Amino acid sequence: MRRNVLISGASSGLGAEMARQLAAKGHHLALTARRVDRLESLAAEINAAHPQVQVAVHRLDVTDHDAVFAVTKQAIKDLGGLDRVVVNAGLGKGGRIGTGKFDANRETVETNVVAALAQVEAAMEHFYERKAGHLVLVSSMSAMRGLPGSVTTYAATKAALAHLGEGIRMDLVGRRGLDIKVTTLFPGYIASEMNEQVEQEQRLMVDTATGVRSMVKAIEKEVDTAAVPGWPWAPLGQVMKHAPRGVLRKLV
Ligand SMILES: NC(=O)c1ccc[n+]([C@@H]2O[C@H](COP(=O)([O-])OP(=O)(O)OC[C@H]3O[C@@H](n4cnc5c(N)ncnc54)[C@H](OP(=O)(O)O)[C@@H]3O)[C@@H](O)[C@H]2O)c1
Repeated sequence: MRRNVLISGASSGLGAEMARQLAAKGHHLALTARRVDRLESLAAEINAAHPQVQVAVHRLDVTDHDAVFAVTKQAIKDLGGLDRVVVNAGLGKGGRIGTGKFDANRETVETNVVAALAQVEAAMEHFYERKAGHLVLVSSMSAMRGLPGSVTTYAATKAALAHLGEGIRMDLVGRRGLDIKVTTLFPGYIASEMNEQVEQEQRLMVDTATGVRSMVKAIEKEVDTAAVPGWPWAPLGQVMKHAPRGVLRKLV
């Protein structure tokens, strides 16, 4: 069992619910986010429900790269090693390219790509040292295709994250003696703070617990990639990849 799990962005939404569901399965947790008060309440809730589970919380802004490496090291020390790292912290800000929204778009790139890279570097260094570990990347269905308007940059960041994961899997090909896996998750619409304002997404939205159960199932199977929930997002992913641009434009 990959017992000790670090989750970034665990103060709300998918990260917090992954922490709840993994704790229920007996995993020890290191939880990070900027809103440490939220992490402390979550840790108290988990300790009350599962007293045998260790939960360490760390205030972390993932765009502070030195802090990412320092907190990862601290979590390794606290739990006696990390078996799984879930790169979940993410930002959905943005505006149509060319409309003066560079600051919002840049912030999304810095959080979802550069800060994710720091987390991936810190995790993989540890996993190579131990010759074992499971890296989980929370990408998005929006990674399937370049998308218009306010999500152009977001979709590009999630595609970058997915390619990072695939590249690391390539690094691992033929490396005997390493029990290292990389899973890239492509969530569809799962209720969270990130999408609570967006009306258009409600049609295909599932509640947080249902969506995260699907994520946890894919994580435990240690698959390379998974659309979560699988239905309807696995077939929709194919439509997104191959539909003519004009058709897709009407759907998103
Ligand atoms: N919900 C969906 O439908 C959906 C679909 C596809 C992909 N995703 C991805 O799933 C992941 C989780 O998102 P969510 O839906 O659960 O949204 P959320 O409720 O807004 O949670 C985002 C989390 O990321 C953390 N975060 C953001 N910027 C951070 C920073 N600079 N440093 C540290 N933590 C930061 C937030 O913590 P603090 O603000 O406390 O720091 C929060 O815990 C994201 O990567 C998102 O892109 C979600």
